[in-house]
Amino acid sequence: MRGAMSVTELFKSDDSTDDTELQFDAAGRLKHLLTLRGLDRSLITELLDQSEKYLTPMGQPVVRATTLQGKTVANLFFEPSTRTRASFDLAARRLGADVLNLDVKTSSRKKGESILDTLYTLQAMQVDIFVIRDASAGVPAYIVRHVGPHASILNAGEADVSHPTQGLLDLLTIRRHKGDFADLTVAIVGDIAHSRVARSAAEGLVTMGVGELRLVSPEALAPDPDAFPSARILHNLDTGIRDADVVMALRIQRERIGSLDGIPGIDEYYKNFGISSERMQNAAPDAIVMHPGPMNRGVEIESSLADGSQSVITEQVTNGVAVRMALLSTVANTLETQ
Ligand code: CP
Repeated sequence: MRGAMSVTELFKSDDSTDDTELQFDAAGRLKHLLTLRGLDRSLITELLDQSEKYLTPMGQPVVRATTLQGKTVANLFFEPSTRTRASFDLAARRLGADVLNLDVKTSSRKKGESILDTLYTLQAMQVDIFVIRDASAGVPAYIVRHVGPHASILNAGEADVSHPTQGLLDLLTIRRHKGDFADLTVAIVGDIAHSRVARSAAEGLVTMGVGELRLVSPEALAPDPDAFPSARILHNLDTGIRDADVVMALRIQRERIGSLDGIPGIDEYYKNFGISSERMQNAAPDAIVMHPGPMNRGVEIESSLADGSQSVITEQVTNGVAVRMALLSTVANTLETQ
């Protein structure tokens, strides 16, 4: 009998192709999105520029197009989501696609069907683009290695590893407020150790040439410095956000923390690492406040700050739809012309 395999072993591949290379077709065009690593500055800029075209002022009609007419997009979320799932759904519909939102709780995966058999079943129904969120590292790349050549895989959140569309929407939000990344100091504050949002934001910001990137957290939630070679790792909030142009708060990812030993309680955490209007006096006077959501008000962020004039949190959500429309159009174009 085969010994028990860890989840990481299960999704490990003998194929030595790097995940970053897997994302491109033979002509070098983006076909899958697994990570922002491997996307160069011009490709990210192209995606952000295209996203801008899908933005309209609040209250005005949304942009609709027929770019995805005849295509089917399946949302497979094996972890909870509000923003990412809803925005992929809206983005695909606004581009004219048929959209399938698989209800994982009532799907045959509950009867033991493997993720690949679920995928092959939907592939047989001519799904073209799979949007996948999973709690296990390696799942999106594993699926890319097994999917048919006519399909595209988009990573909608992978364990603590990668959340590339969140990274793109964060870049778009920062660019719309601040312009050139080279002039900026960005501070990401909170549970960096378990955050896929921090990883993707850092990858994107470094590629875009950010002036300074600071990661601010309690010692117990600090990242492995090797995972963020270009960032300054700090453990004091006032130092960490001093003169920062962008301050991004992250929640504590309790679902990914095995033991809470050493993790500060809520009151202590808010006192030392909660972003508040008072603490923001240390940042640049025109600094923006970001949060990927879901927020824990009164833990990592003061409620009135989240709703105040410095906050761009709801803009991040709006920009998320635009970024996902740009991405869906890009990969659909690759599928169409391969
Ligand atoms: N930011 C983010 O991924 O939010 P959801 O978990 O609601 O999709």
